[in-house]
Amino acid sequence: MRYFILIFAVLVLIVIGVAGKRGDITRNSPIQIFPDMKRQLKLRPQTPNGFFANGLSSQLPQPGTISQEKPMLVGGKEVYSFEDAPVNTGRVTGATNFIELNALPITEKLLARGHRQFNIYCAPCHGQTGEGTGITKKIGAMAIVANLHDKRIVQLTDGELFNTVSHGKGVMQGYAAQLTVGDRWAVVAYLRALQLSRLGTADDLAPETRAKLK
Ligand code: HEC
Repeated sequence: MRYFILIFAVLVLIVIGVAGKRGDITRNSPIQIFPDMKRQLKLRPQTPNGFFANGLSSQLPQPGTISQEKPMLVGGKEVYSFEDAPVNTGRVTGATNFIELNALPITEKLLARGHRQFNIYCAPCHGQTGEGTGITKKIGAMAIVANLHDKRIVQLTDGELFNTVSHGKGVMQGYAAQLTVGDRWAVVAYLRALQLSRLGTADDLAPETRAKLK
């Protein structure tokens, strides 16, 4: 009986010692009796390695690689989303300067799309006219919402507006997850139309319309 208790106690200690730490977080590899190729040599991101000549573990697409993505057509040229192109970044290729004008040609269709998306994604805060008096202001959910007719914002480049819509600014979040690249440029185009509606003078009207006004 004495031996039984002793052996039992030792067994309990062994079981606790081996299995008791299960559930703890560890970076050690688990004991694997049949490894099943689950653990293999690999290149970790951000870790220098001698495998590729440039030392990076993530390589840029090799020439001849065919993307599964459908490219965007910009001025008759195909542009993929990974390219450093003004339409993707709002910036001059290879530089950090914002582009001055919309990367897409301004068409009635683009403005209509921008109108729709602006009223869905921007109007709740900025209001349908862009003054910053949307519903979130009314219910007090957002203290200060930018007035998009502010002189400073009117003077921003289209590229910077695109950047703000994509990545956000200050307390405003980015809308890249909700709006495609094309939609973001459409919203920028529509925002310009909203701003112009406040800045226009009678001289901008067609002569016949101006005559009617007088
Ligand atoms: C949830 C509320 C909210 C929504 C939705 C929202 N904004 Fe904003 N936006 C803000 C706030 C708040 C600011 C002021 C940010 C700051 O200065 O910290 C701002 C600022 C801006 C600015 C000025 C940036 C600058 O340079 O100061 C622009 C332009 C703008 N928003 C455009 C848009 C557009 C276009 C959309 C739709 C895609 C949009 N916003 C949707 C809350 C919102």
